[in-house]
Amino acid sequence: MNTTYSPADTERTVLYVSDHPDAKLVGFLADSGWSAVHARSTVIAERMIERDDIKVGLVQLPAQCSPLDLSALASCMRRVETNWVAQIAPGQADDELVSRFILDYCFDFVTQPWLNERLVFALGHAHGLSSLRQTRAAPEASLGRHGMVGQCEAMQQLYRYIDKCSVTEAPVFVAGESGTGKELTARAIHERSTRAGQTFVAINCAAIPPSLLQAELFGHERGAFTGALQRKIGRIESAHGGTLFLDEIGDMPHECQAVLLRFLQEGTIERLGGNATIKVDARVISATHVDLDQAVEDGRFRADLYHRLCVLRIVEPPLRERGGDIKLLARYALSLYKQDGARKLRGLSSDAIVALSNYPWPGNVRELINCVRRAVVMSEGRFITASDLGLPETDHGPAVTLAEIRAKAEKDAVEQALQRHGYKLSEAAAQLGISRATLYRLMNANRLHAEPGAGRGAQANGSSDAEADDEAERRSPSLA
Ligand SMILES: Nc1ncnc2c1ncn2[C@@H]1O[C@H](COP(=O)(O)OP(=O)(O)OP(=O)(O)O)[C@@H](O)[C@H]1O
Ligand SMILES: [Mg+2]
Repeated sequence: MNTTYSPADTERTVLYVSDHPDAKLVGFLADSGWSAVHARSTVIAERMIERDDIKVGLVQLPAQCSPLDLSALASCMRRVETNWVAQIAPGQADDELVSRFILDYCFDFVTQPWLNERLVFALGHAHGLSSLRQTRAAPEASLGRHGMVGQCEAMQQLYRYIDKCSVTEAPVFVAGESGTGKELTARAIHERSTRAGQTFVAINCAAIPPSLLQAELFGHERGAFTGALQRKIGRIESAHGGTLFLDEIGDMPHECQAVLLRFLQEGTIERLGGNATIKVDARVISATHVDLDQAVEDGRFRADLYHRLCVLRIVEPPLRERGGDIKLLARYALSLYKQDGARKLRGLSSDAIVALSNYPWPGNVRELINCVRRAVVMSEGRFITASDLGLPETDHGPAVTLAEIRAKAEKDAVEQALQRHGYKLSEAAAQLGISRATLYRLMNANRLHAEPGAGRGAQANGSSDAEADDEAERRSPSLA
């Protein structure tokens, strides 16, 4: 048996997991173009799978298979990139645990006594499908940019803004709903800026009690207040040379806003209880999920601070506006957490994808990732289904086609133009940018008749010939 293994062999290599390897079978495999690498235990098998690109595994189930044996095997067979073929004893598939195990983790199985040709056929098939999946998985590397997943136009624009903000020192304000990736964006800007090698200091202004926030941001000297037993360097000072990320800035108390403004204007701070002025060179990025314009209007946020912070402004698109990225992100989340599940998961079922696309995602990407993560644990099959996701039903009303939407928009536009122009057809047609003939046709098709008495005012005011003409036309029987 070939027990040495090098990655160059991966093309036709089978990982053979058995505590009693069958030398004759290994010889047959070698004659059929397979090199078998043997793992006596699941621990060794797991290590080999982690280290090497194993596409196919052959596992011999112990004749008396305990739940413990199965769970040890399952843990090394979870990786979706490897397809497994099981060898079982006659009658073993009648055991419910074994049959469940085969269904969940194996690509195929052979029962003793098997034909070696049949086994080699199953291995070849398993190898082919695994290779196919890996080829298709290759573009995964280009799921997005800047460490973010997303390919839709809104995300492309976000990437362009990140690039632009990275080459300047101006303060950036990142707006967007909760869970859309504001912090990810702030980090991406820092990582691409000239400050990349320096520190990135994030502070969540909403998570720190207002009474402590100022000390946290600016630091304090020993004895500055009761409990200040020693000097503490604040977050702003510790961001010197790097980037300071002020998260949830919309929740910053008013008194703190005034001190922060001074830092933004002068580039200096004073520690609480100290009188030295300390120069700090930190690039400032801020973010909040609250409507900052509204907060300024309501007097909750200082307008001068707002203008200092919002020199450059980025708005994160909500997930519901990212179209196909929802599917992309769900698959990405699955790839992150699929090892958490009890079973080997292969992907998302089509009904799951429909459910994901129909849900409005108020919690955005964070909610989506958590939802898929939960589904990984809850799922009982090889694919995550809509019911595993547990998303509430959303009522979208009756389904409408694009043609129906267009027809309704057309009818509304014609009706509004007619009403606006008192049913004077020339004017309505001119506004709509269509000929009068087309307008008649549309009025007929949509049964848009002139209201009794409409246009009277125009006539009384001395309407033009064309308008009188229109009046005659709209009262013509063809419009009735
Ligand atoms: N485009 C994306 N690709 C991959 N992961 C993302 C993406 N956007 C957000 N995430 C992930 O979603 C989670 C929330 O992102 P982040 O904390 O940046 O959002 P946020 O807008 O700051 O949220 P909050 O308003 O709640 O603070 C994180 O785990 C982050 O890694
Ligand atoms: Mg955040």
